[in-house]
Amino acid sequence: MAIDHAFLDELTARNDIVEVVSRYVVLKRQGANYFGLCPFHNEKSASFSVSPDKQIYHCFGCGAGGGVINFVMRAEGLEFRDAVQFLADRSGLKVPQDQMDAGAARRRERLLSLMKDAGRFYYDTLWQPEYAPMQQYFARRGLTKKTMNRFGLGYAPDSFHQTMDAMQKKGYTKEELVAAGLAVKNEKGAIYDKFRGRVMFPIIDVRGQVVAFGGRVMDDSKPKYLNSPETMIFHKGRNLFALNLAKKTTQDHFILAEGYMDVIALHQAGFDSAVASLGTALTEEQARMIARYTKKVIISYDADGAGQAAAQRAIDILKRADLQVNVLRIPGAKDPDEFIKAKGPDAFQRLIEHSEGHNAYRLDQIADKYDLTEDDQRIAFIQDAARMLAAIEGAVEREVYLGRTAKMAGITPEALQVEVRRALGIRRKQRSNAEHRTVRAVAQNVQPRDRMLRYPDIRSGRAEEGVLALLFTEPSLVPVIIKRLRPADFSAPVLAKIYTHALELEAQGLPVSIAGFEGYLEDGELALLSEILSRPLTALEGRQRALDDYIEIMEERRTQRMLEQPPCEGGEDPMITFSKMKAEKMGGK
Ligand code: CTP
Ligand code: MN
Repeated sequence: MAIDHAFLDELTARNDIVEVVSRYVVLKRQGANYFGLCPFHNEKSASFSVSPDKQIYHCFGCGAGGGVINFVMRAEGLEFRDAVQFLADRSGLKVPQDQMDAGAARRRERLLSLMKDAGRFYYDTLWQPEYAPMQQYFARRGLTKKTMNRFGLGYAPDSFHQTMDAMQKKGYTKEELVAAGLAVKNEKGAIYDKFRGRVMFPIIDVRGQVVAFGGRVMDDSKPKYLNSPETMIFHKGRNLFALNLAKKTTQDHFILAEGYMDVIALHQAGFDSAVASLGTALTEEQARMIARYTKKVIISYDADGAGQAAAQRAIDILKRADLQVNVLRIPGAKDPDEFIKAKGPDAFQRLIEHSEGHNAYRLDQIADKYDLTEDDQRIAFIQDAARMLAAIEGAVEREVYLGRTAKMAGITPEALQVEVRRALGIRRKQRSNAEHRTVRAVAQNVQPRDRMLRYPDIRSGRAEEGVLALLFTEPSLVPVIIKRLRPADFSAPVLAKIYTHALELEAQGLPVSIAGFEGYLEDGELALLSEILSRPLTALEGRQRALDDYIEIMEERRTQRMLEQPPCEGGEDPMITFSKMKAEKMGGK
């Protein structure tokens, strides 16, 4: 993963973080920094900050943070290497290749080619005469041969080794089959085919490469679907089924369905902008991927309770990606697949045309819970709906739905307005309480958010953080710090790691900046570093003094720790050491 540091430095210099972030987040300048709504968690007040001086971002709400490369990784759902490539492409730089990267790239290529060959194998198997019943399974479900080919559907033979044998014959190793998730290794070390006796749905990424499979049983046995695990080439939260096809649509909207079969049936019926998340709730990354191709999404989930609950969650996630969201309701059928089979494509087209905006949909969902002919239920409905209306951000939009709700409840808009104002008041108060709580929590929470990174000595850790902050922001102090501190002087392993790397950068004549740490630190470590660097710094004239203080605290704490924990090396019985200590202490009194 080691990309030349000098190159990363040049890359980050050419990709200003404010400019890059601005393409995803509306930023407003506030003092030395920019603020906006965090794209990585749901929030209403701007706690996401970008520092043009330090070239870092940090969210005070969710703790995410890092440099421009880390931002691109998260925002685009890319691996480190791909994020570097992404930034290099947009700034006209060429990424230097080194040995180690070439190794990883080669392994990736091998996995991709293995998945392609496996897809081919499943496909060929399906069309062998002995597997006619499997072909008929798809036919019975209404799929034409053309559709089956289009989606590359296949069949995994009911055997523990047939897929493996076929792939080994093509030159792949068992280890590669396991790494690709096509084979499984049990506790005893035996390796066998993962997919057995299932019809196979290849999952193809945006670039048209097979990256995973979903396999369905042909009867009612469980689990209905078996999916590829996460691998080097497959991250289910970053892929959408059929996006490779949907991205070419001429429609002005995408249709978001729940299942493989729904998407396939929709495409066959001419709805070529249908996609599905892969057996999981829609992720923020998937929403952002969709937003790259369209401005509008029509949610078309199953009509059952689970499907409708999932739709409510999907609305929030899609709205956060700035998408216009409609929700389609399927009368008298379970899912789009069944509806199209029963009523035909034209009827589905009408459902699309009559799909409601997400606010109307939510309002209807609320109304469905109450019998509006009963007075007490009507009152409950009004209160419930008022909360929903209060949550609508735009005043105009809120007004529109307020009118509609009043009509549904048979009261005047003015009376409803009173309820909504009250709900708004409660909402605002709750929100400001929540903000107050987080600020207080941040002030108290002296340990890093990432539990793996806990400081063994909090007071020393705080001082060590202070030293690092100065190291990154006060170049004149760098030689002083280097002369006075060694990595071993840091009690917190993560801070020692950061310091060690800073020394390496310095030795190579590179600036100590966040750019040199991306791809070197883990996500949590990078977020911690960006948090440390986001804190307000001592005024310029007091910095030398602050450094002295920090180092003094570190020394004091080290002495203290040595007193508290006597070293147990040299085979000495800790109990004896302990009692000796106690004796010494008592004697000293
Ligand atoms: N799913 C899964 N594992 C399961 C069940 C479902 O991964 N055990 C995922 C699949 O991606 C599936 C989606 O959730 O497509 C929706 O589930 P369901 O509605 O049951 O799937 P359908 O595609 O409608 O399947 P079918 O019509 O073949 O029963
Ligand atoms: Mn179905």
